[in-house]
Amino acid sequence: MNKLTTCSLKERKAADLVIVPFFEEKSKAVAAIKAQELATLLSFPVNEGDFSGKEKEVLVYYPASGKEKRVLLLGLGQQTKCSAEVVRTCYAMALKAAGLKSVRHINVCLPDAASVEISSAAVEGMLLASYRFDGFKSKKDDKKIESLCFCGALEKALLKKVETIIGAVAMTQDLVNGNADDVNAVAFIKLAKDLAKKHPSIKLNILDKKALEKEKMGLILAVGQAAAIDPAVVVFEYRGNPSSKEMVAIVGKGVTFDTGGLNLKVSGSGIETMKCDMAGAAAVVGIIRACAELKLKVNVVGALGIAENAMGPLSYKPGDVFYSRDGKSVEITNTDAEGRLVLADTISYVEAHYPCRCVIDLATLTGGVVIALGESAAGLFSSDDKLAAALEASAARTHERVWRLPLYQDYREMMKSPIADLKNSSNKRHASAPTGAVFIQEFVKTSSWAHLDIAGVAYLSELRPYYPTAATGYGVRLLIDFLEHFS
Ligand code: BES
Ligand code: ZN
Ligand code: ZN
Repeated sequence: MNKLTTCSLKERKAADLVIVPFFEEKSKAVAAIKAQELATLLSFPVNEGDFSGKEKEVLVYYPASGKEKRVLLLGLGQQTKCSAEVVRTCYAMALKAAGLKSVRHINVCLPDAASVEISSAAVEGMLLASYRFDGFKSKKDDKKIESLCFCGALEKALLKKVETIIGAVAMTQDLVNGNADDVNAVAFIKLAKDLAKKHPSIKLNILDKKALEKEKMGLILAVGQAAAIDPAVVVFEYRGNPSSKEMVAIVGKGVTFDTGGLNLKVSGSGIETMKCDMAGAAAVVGIIRACAELKLKVNVVGALGIAENAMGPLSYKPGDVFYSRDGKSVEITNTDAEGRLVLADTISYVEAHYPCRCVIDLATLTGGVVIALGESAAGLFSSDDKLAAALEASAARTHERVWRLPLYQDYREMMKSPIADLKNSSNKRHASAPTGAVFIQEFVKTSSWAHLDIAGVAYLSELRPYYPTAATGYGVRLLIDFLEHFS
């Protein structure tokens, strides 16, 4: 999308198509906008009952007159049930339907007296739905929508804000959709440097292999020791609130490819989707970029733990013991439980070097969370009820859903090792998401911590109206909302 503007319904310019929202009232469509000119134009399909305004219903109509040659009637369903998520989905469907026509400029009517939440959701739905990743296709999509003009209750500043956030989501999606061999530690470092160059509010601290060794970060080094590209930790410091020293720490799992290592991924466990295993790190980059562009008044330290879990003669071996940055010994019972190792050392480094008010980590950590929650919610684990509640509130607003799961002592017992301080995986398949979470918790010193297991939500097997590719950019919208409300 090249150009986004706002205007009043009356003053709107000519376009190729106009989107007109409807509610459904007693099985009959009722326009959600009061525009006499359009209402009379559209009376035919409505009165004939061809269009009843039910949720996600779309009808393209070619009127004989008017500012636009095409009118897209969009059903939003019953007004009382019309949540932000319904609006996000319906406007995404409208964009998709419009994209099938030879349409370049679209006027988009928002429902009359729409709240900030509803208008932003409409914009979000359309921008998310217009995301493309066709870099690998020799035949590119030539039908490109060039501009959207939003007519109705929408401040320019709000439009700009949503555009910025969805731009950051798209960057995260590009990273996750990209080839594992392209989006490696070297690429993350280059991207981080470019971001820091562009935004003076971002400072960078990059730890290469040598620096990881100096810091004695034995766990992330073990995971990365067989790969052609060395592991690294990238730390962004974003300072938007000079009156405070405290920072919100956001740490992402950046396993650029997860072969499972020598314990081998069992067949059917989806090795062909494992380029997505850096989705947590990719979200952190998106979050930092959005913070800088929106000039959020918070201090954030964003850290990426980057390693490739490769298989080869140099791979770390099952049964061996490695030492974490904070000196704990870990018996490797499964080389496929590598994300927690990367996170343990990265979180420990961040806590030692930055004053953390709270620590939030994002990781495609376990297949278990996908079994439990599917692709509908991230698993949320937290040592702090207030932090968990704040994340749940952001999840409700953004529809990047979370579902809280427990951190029982029982799970800690399952991670005890006879030969080391702990092991990296229990030998059972029981509770793999919670046992992964308690492993990470062993390395966290900050009292306020949350872990988001995003294995199900970061990379979809079934596409959605506003997620047209596998990568969703999960976490960017959620945590920007969280940071906006953070005090
Ligand atoms: N990267 C995987 C988890 C994953 C699964 C991400 C599906 C995205 C989609 C992770 O490193 C992994 O392999 N976890 C193991 C842990 C187990 C060995 C304790 C799992 O879930 O099977
Ligand atoms: Zn793994
Ligand atoms: Zn993994």
